[in-house]
Amino acid sequence: MTALSINLNKVALIRNSREGSYPDVTEFAQLCIDQGADGITVHPRPDQRHIRPDDVRNLAELVKSAREGLPKLEFNVEGNPFAPAIGNYPGFLELVTETLPDQCTLVPDGDDQLTSDHGFDLISSGEQLKPIIQRLHKLGMRVSLFMDPDLEQIELAKAVGADRIELYTGPYAAAWGSDQLEALFQQHLAAAKLATSLGMGVNAGHDLNLENLAKFATIPDLLEVSIGHAFTVDSLLMGMPQAVQRYKALLA
Ligand code: PXP
Repeated sequence: MTALSINLNKVALIRNSREGSYPDVTEFAQLCIDQGADGITVHPRPDQRHIRPDDVRNLAELVKSAREGLPKLEFNVEGNPFAPAIGNYPGFLELVTETLPDQCTLVPDGDDQLTSDHGFDLISSGEQLKPIIQRLHKLGMRVSLFMDPDLEQIELAKAVGADRIELYTGPYAAAWGSDQLEALFQQHLAAAKLATSLGMGVNAGHDLNLENLAKFATIPDLLEVSIGHAFTVDSLLMGMPQAVQRYKALLA
């Protein structure tokens, strides 16, 4: 079954709109775990617009202790491996070196991007990524690369040492209800099949929701989806426990 990793960025965004620590991101992580989420994802950024370094530290601890009863539970930290230290943001690699998530998803996002909106171009950044992936492997982390469904790029992901790819599903989600959808779905399917045949695992994420997820989840061997934005909206509509259950039911 495809694992559901809940991205809690948006809970942190609400917290950051006021002084203080309410809502408590770890409390919502615990609630998701109690309702059957398979993992927790966060995407710290140097500008700390949502998840802050202390959130990553606290969630790492929480997942570690929750795993005593749930051995398959995972913590996934996403971000730009080239993001440097700024103020009390220690830099992405320093933060994951300190907190040791199960999976590190490397994303080529810039500070000026509202959200991640493309996968890696490994022709230009592959050589820089290789030693970073090796460093994360030495620390025991699984490394996933955020990728567009481009077959040449998927082959390069294998060549630079990725364990998994995370397919960027934004364009697939944007095409929902249009006549572009099937062609885009087929591109993602072909990319996933190639990655699997090369021995990499396949994750997916961005703009997945209760409407578009079921079709995407027919991709064979889709190991994990990470969902935040729509999940948060669904939680407002129906409550977080029910939202987790609805996403889990779609993936079952
Ligand atoms: N994957 C990556 C790399 C992301 O940056 C995000 C958004 O933080 C997601 C998945 C989840 O996307 P969404 O919030 O649209 O579900």
